[in-house]
Amino acid sequence: MSRILSAVAWPYANGPRHIGHVAGFGVPSDVFSRYMRMAGHDVLMVSGTDEHGTPILVQAEQEGVSPQELADRYNRVIVEDLTNLGLSYDLFTRTTTRNHYAVVQEMFRTVHKNGYMVEQSTMGAISPSTGRTLPDRYIEGTCPICGYDGARGDQCDNCGNQLDAIDLINPKSRINGEKPKFVESTHFFLDLPAFASALETWLKGRQGWRPNVLNFSLNLVDDMRPRAMTRDIDWGIPVPLPGWEDNPNKRLYVWFDAVIGYLSASVEWARRSGDDDAWRAFWNDPEALSYYFMGKDNITFHSQIWPAELLGYDGKGDKGGAPGPYGDLQLPTEVVSSEFLTMEGKKFASSRGIVIYVRDMLARYQPDALRYFISTAGPENQDSDFTWADFLRRTNDELVAGWGNLVNRTASMIHKNFGEIPAAGELADVDRALLATSSGAFARVGELVGTHRHKAAIGEAMRVVQEANRYVSETEPWKLTADRERLATVLNTAAQAVSDANTLLAPFLPHSAQQVHETFGRTGTFAPQPRIDEVTDLDDESRHYPVITGDYSGVPAWESVPVVAGTAVAKPTPVFTKLDDSIVEEELARYAAR
Ligand code: MF3
Ligand code: ZN
Repeated sequence: MSRILSAVAWPYANGPRHIGHVAGFGVPSDVFSRYMRMAGHDVLMVSGTDEHGTPILVQAEQEGVSPQELADRYNRVIVEDLTNLGLSYDLFTRTTTRNHYAVVQEMFRTVHKNGYMVEQSTMGAISPSTGRTLPDRYIEGTCPICGYDGARGDQCDNCGNQLDAIDLINPKSRINGEKPKFVESTHFFLDLPAFASALETWLKGRQGWRPNVLNFSLNLVDDMRPRAMTRDIDWGIPVPLPGWEDNPNKRLYVWFDAVIGYLSASVEWARRSGDDDAWRAFWNDPEALSYYFMGKDNITFHSQIWPAELLGYDGKGDKGGAPGPYGDLQLPTEVVSSEFLTMEGKKFASSRGIVIYVRDMLARYQPDALRYFISTAGPENQDSDFTWADFLRRTNDELVAGWGNLVNRTASMIHKNFGEIPAAGELADVDRALLATSSGAFARVGELVGTHRHKAAIGEAMRVVQEANRYVSETEPWKLTADRERLATVLNTAAQAVSDANTLLAPFLPHSAQQVHETFGRTGTFAPQPRIDEVTDLDDESRHYPVITGDYSGVPAWESVPVVAGTAVAKPTPVFTKLDDSIVEEELARYAAR
C-alpha cells in the first residue's frame, strides 16, 4: 500500500470549462485515482479553482462584476460540471480561501528567509491610455527566441519558452492594441539559477515520465533565469512582508500561489477531516508518491517553478536554508502532462465559439460517453481531434453495440431463463478460455493505468468485452434451452466475464459500472461518486463555498470476484443511450451559428 497524492491542475474560474480542459487534467487524473484506490492504495486527490491573476480580472471587467463575484460564479459552475462528470476529488476547493492565503504566505516567507526571493527592480508594462499595469500575458508580439509572431508576454506557445514582455519584438496590448509603455517597478524574483543543479539532479533521477515531458523539463534547466513572483496588480494574495503587505497594488504572482494549492488543499482536507496533520503523510514522507496531471501548457510551472518553490522551502538550493513549519516537502514523483485536444481540426477558442463546454455536453450526452471518448481518443501522447462523427461512432459502435449489448443480452437471458445467476456445471474449454482472458486482464490493465497509458488500458478492457461477445455468439445460449445444465454454465461464465469487464472498466466508466453492478443483482456502492458540500471557510465564518468531496472507501478490489449463483437478476434496462446519426449535423450547425 502506498500513499498517493493525485494533484490535479486547477482550472481558472474565469468561465465554464470545455472538454479540452477535462481531457487534459480531468478524466486522466480520475481514472488513475479510481484505479489506485481499487488497487488498495491510499489516494488523496486534490484541486480547486484558480481564482487570481489577470484572466479573472479581465473577465470580471467584461462582465461588470468584481473579481470575487466572478470567481464565485464560475467556481460554482466548474464544481457542478466536474462533479457531474464523476471526478472523484477528495477535496476540490479554491484559491480564495483564508487557508490557501495562509499556506501561500508561509511558503513565501520561508522561501524568502532561505534567501531565494531576491528583490529587484524591473521594467513593467503599463497601458499608456489607462495608466494601469498591463500583465505579461495581455501583451503580444514576436518571440525573441523563435521568431513566432503570436507570442505572449509571459510565454511563447510556439517554442514553449517563458518570456519577459519587455523582450518581445513589436509588443502590442491584446486588450486594445496599443503599444505598452515600460516603467520601473520593484519585485521579488525567485532565484531559479540557485536551483538549477538541484532540479537537474531531480529530473535526471525521474523514471517513467513521458519522454516529451521529461525532455522539455530538462531543456528548461539550461536557461534558468530569476522569475518575478510578485505583480503590480490589485487582485491576488498580499506579499507577507513589511512595506509590501499593505500595498494594495502589489500581489503575489498567480502562478506562485496556484501551484501551492496542491499543498493548501491537502492541509484543508486534513483540517476538515478532523486530523490537522493528516496531510503530512502525503507530503513529508519520502515514500509517498505524487502525480501531477495537466495539459502541456502547464509543464513549466510543474517541473520548474513548483519544484523550485519546494526546494526553496526545504532549503535545498545552492544557498542552503532550513524548512519552515511544514517540514521537508517532497518533490513530484511524476509530472503527467497530456497534449492538446482540438475540435473538428481547430484549436478551441471560446471567444470565437469554437468550444464545447462540459456543461453543454453533459446536458445532452451521458458522462461516461464523454469519458469513453477521452480515454480512447484523447490527447494522451499527441494532439488529438474531437469530431462529432467520431464521438457518435465510438458511442454507438463500441459502448452501445459492444459493452452495452453484452451486458444487456447476458442479463436478459439470465433473467428469462433462471431469474437469478445460475450455478455453473462442468466447464468446457471455451468457458475456461474466456475466464482466463477476463481474469488475466487485471494485471495488464492495472499496469497500463498505473503508467498513464489509458488508451492501451481501456483497449485491453474492451478486448475482454469483445471476447465475451464472441463467446456468447459462438455458444449460442438461445439454442440451449433443451440442455439446462449447459445453458446454466454458459450464462454463469458470461456473467463472470461481464463482472470482470465491469471492474476493469469502472475507473473509466464509473456511472455505468454502478448500473451494471446493480443490473446483476448486486447492491451497495461499486463505483462511488463525488458530491458537493456547502462549507464555511475554516478561518472566516462569513465566507461560504461549495467543495467537491466524497467517500471513496469500500471500492471493490482490483481483481476478479466470483459471481454468486442465486443472485436475482431483474429484466435489464439499457445502460447506454444510442445516439441518432442526426446529432452530428445538429451539433455542427450549433457551432456554425455562433
Ligand atoms: N489555472 C491554470 C490553467 O488553467 C492551471 C493552474 S494549475 C496550478 O492553465 F497548479 F497552478 F494550480
Ligand atoms: Zn518562441
